[in-house]
Amino acid sequence: MTKQKTNFDVNGKVVLISGAARGIGLDCARSLAQAGAKIMLADILDELGKDVARSICEQGREAAFCTLDVTREEDWQRGIAATLEAFGGLDVLINNAGIEIAKPLLQMSVEEWRRMHSINVEGVFLGTKHALAAMTSEGREGRGGSIINLSSVAGLVGVPGFAGYCASKGAVRLFSKAVAAEFGAMNIRVNSVHPGVTRTEMGDKAVQDVANLIFGGDFEQGLNFIKSSTPLGRIGETSDVVAAVHFLASDAACYITGTELVVDGGISAV
Ligand SMILES: NC(=O)c1ccc[n+]([C@@H]2O[C@H](COP(=O)([O-])OP(=O)(O)OC[C@H]3O[C@@H](n4cnc5c(N)ncnc54)[C@H](O)[C@@H]3O)[C@@H](O)[C@H]2O)c1
Repeated sequence: MTKQKTNFDVNGKVVLISGAARGIGLDCARSLAQAGAKIMLADILDELGKDVARSICEQGREAAFCTLDVTREEDWQRGIAATLEAFGGLDVLINNAGIEIAKPLLQMSVEEWRRMHSINVEGVFLGTKHALAAMTSEGREGRGGSIINLSSVAGLVGVPGFAGYCASKGAVRLFSKAVAAEFGAMNIRVNSVHPGVTRTEMGDKAVQDVANLIFGGDFEQGLNFIKSSTPLGRIGETSDVVAAVHFLASDAACYITGTELVVDGGISAV
């Protein structure tokens, strides 16, 4: 029986995901591959990334891994060339790799500020720049593409102790809108996704950071504070974020560009 293609289908789309060895990126890779997309996982964690790609292939899906540090332009050039060679095009880029450093602003060094911006902002710029080149000329011309940038609720509202992270994620939000405006005519959509605290290594660190800043380091108190500030009463799961990414990657979102999709259980609404 032939599979009915729906608007939400990502079957056959070629997707490159940065920071795909664990956390949200890993769940995007597994889930989109399960839905029939061809996945190039990219990360600095080689062994972990290769294992994930291997396990996806063992399930009869298509995936490959490339070592890619998002701060290095030559890595992006290599990673995108490898994607075009392996899968014959590039339909979706998920700029997911990121780091979070939280501390009272007066304790933040300029090195920490620059490191965070180099991964969270420059990394997104470089990935977007080289993906656009592939989507407009070297890729499937006329077919367009979707670029999905992982921002954060911290890119929408100020969070005490997270000023550097907020600045970097706010930059991702407006960068996405400007690129959406510039490349709409080429049918390339660019959107940002704004998770609240989501259960991953980074999410656990964020809870601990909140606990350190407000509750003398008590993790449970930090967690309960976040849950009780969230209308839906829980922190996010990676699957919550994947659902939004999947939507933006699909043709169901074909008239959606330059927007911000908030996946935070309502915490930024109150
Ligand atoms: N988890 C949360 O609570 C949360 C909330 C809001 C936004 N986000 C954003 O979602 C994205 C994914 O977060 P996560 O929770 O999965 O984080 P994570 O720390 O669990 O995973 C991040 C991945 O990025 C990779 N990475 C880090 N630096 C890299 C670099 N220079 N080049 C390539 N890869 C690199 C890591 O190796 C890791 O695999 C990030 O951009 C993060 O800022 C996360």
